[in-house]
Amino acid sequence: MRVLLVAGARPNFMKIAPIIRAMNVHGGFDWKLVHTGQHYDYEMSQSFFDDLEIPKPDFFLEVGSGSHAEQTAKVMVEFERVCLEEKPDVILVVGDVNSTLACSIVAKKLGIKVAHVEAGLRSFDMAMPEEINRMVTDSISDFFFVTEQSGKENLLSEGKAEESIHFVGHVMIDNLLHQLEKVNAASSSSFEYGDLKHQLGEYIFLTMHRPSNVDDLETLAGIVNALNKISESVPIVFPVHPRTQKMLNAFNLVWSDNVHCLPPLGFHESLNLWKDAALVLTDSGGLQEETTALGVPCVTMRENTERPITCEMGTNVLVGNDPEKIRKAVRDALAHKKQTASIPPLWDGHAAERIVRILRDVMTEDAACLSEADGE
Ligand code: UD1
Repeated sequence: MRVLLVAGARPNFMKIAPIIRAMNVHGGFDWKLVHTGQHYDYEMSQSFFDDLEIPKPDFFLEVGSGSHAEQTAKVMVEFERVCLEEKPDVILVVGDVNSTLACSIVAKKLGIKVAHVEAGLRSFDMAMPEEINRMVTDSISDFFFVTEQSGKENLLSEGKAEESIHFVGHVMIDNLLHQLEKVNAASSSSFEYGDLKHQLGEYIFLTMHRPSNVDDLETLAGIVNALNKISESVPIVFPVHPRTQKMLNAFNLVWSDNVHCLPPLGFHESLNLWKDAALVLTDSGGLQEETTALGVPCVTMRENTERPITCEMGTNVLVGNDPEKIRKAVRDALAHKKQTASIPPLWDGHAAERIVRILRDVMTEDAACLSEADGE
């Protein structure tokens, strides 16, 4: 069975790594890896391949940055060439980035089956580019691998057949648990920011890159102001995403000395910092889930989440981007810590194995149906 695995941007790499591991263990797949090149800086791409031991991609499409239309179009043109050459039986896309959307459209139009990992998540916020990517990808996918019950409910309410939806848990958590063992076993001197962590003792780990938080001057200035004030009581460690850095420069915004701005971090370096943080303050999708899995308090600077299980069962609290609300939520989270957090169902480190087993079964069934139809 020929499979093309697609990854393009930073959050994809954490999801594709465990799937590759599982495909290697459970044979029967002739898989190849396509890296679209949506993210390309060493810190945003190769450092993840190194940390997560992802093999060199078979195809690197080098699409780079651009407007949404430019980036999506470039991925489509390049990925179509790969599909025509490779003739895969199925492509597997993960998450909700522009590469996910572009590759699923290309494959579907060539009559190739599409498997979507992390399907069914909905923020119901159409101002979020990822929501459009999620909806369009799911509208044409054949196999849906969902991480939480809400994903299944959303897909059912959109008319998807129940047998095409597979609640398997979360490959991102597979990756986290796998890598956590390595990080815990490593000596603190092997981390570039091990000394900083030691010196600070108690700190907040911050990530922020959503266009809704960083692309508008007034919004970003309000957040920077709130974070500078928060850092007077608890220092903040902040690996800065390239989009955010660009906007901070453009708007001339200045951080207080208690906000320790770092370049984007590799997976191990980042995990080593956030796993022991007093609090994670973020607008990332993945960190909402990873903090829930490790029981680290999380305050999310968004009005909504497509991952509601992290608030219902996990450590996550949504706060939006109002400066006063952020300060209050941080104070509350540091003071009380959420008591009721527990691990969502099937977030047990074995999601990728389930996906691989199911994919093999459904594709085999599919092939049997086709040859039966041919014989008639
Ligand atoms: C993308 C994803 C988002 C994900 C995020 C994680 C979409 C629509 N968005 O957003 O869902 O949460 O990745 O990081 O797919 N840049 C660099 N180096 C790089 C990559 C980007 O400098 O390696 C700069 C470019 O100037 C680019 C900007 O960052 O214009 C934004 O990159 P882009 O891939 O367009 O979107 P992200 O904000 O990274």
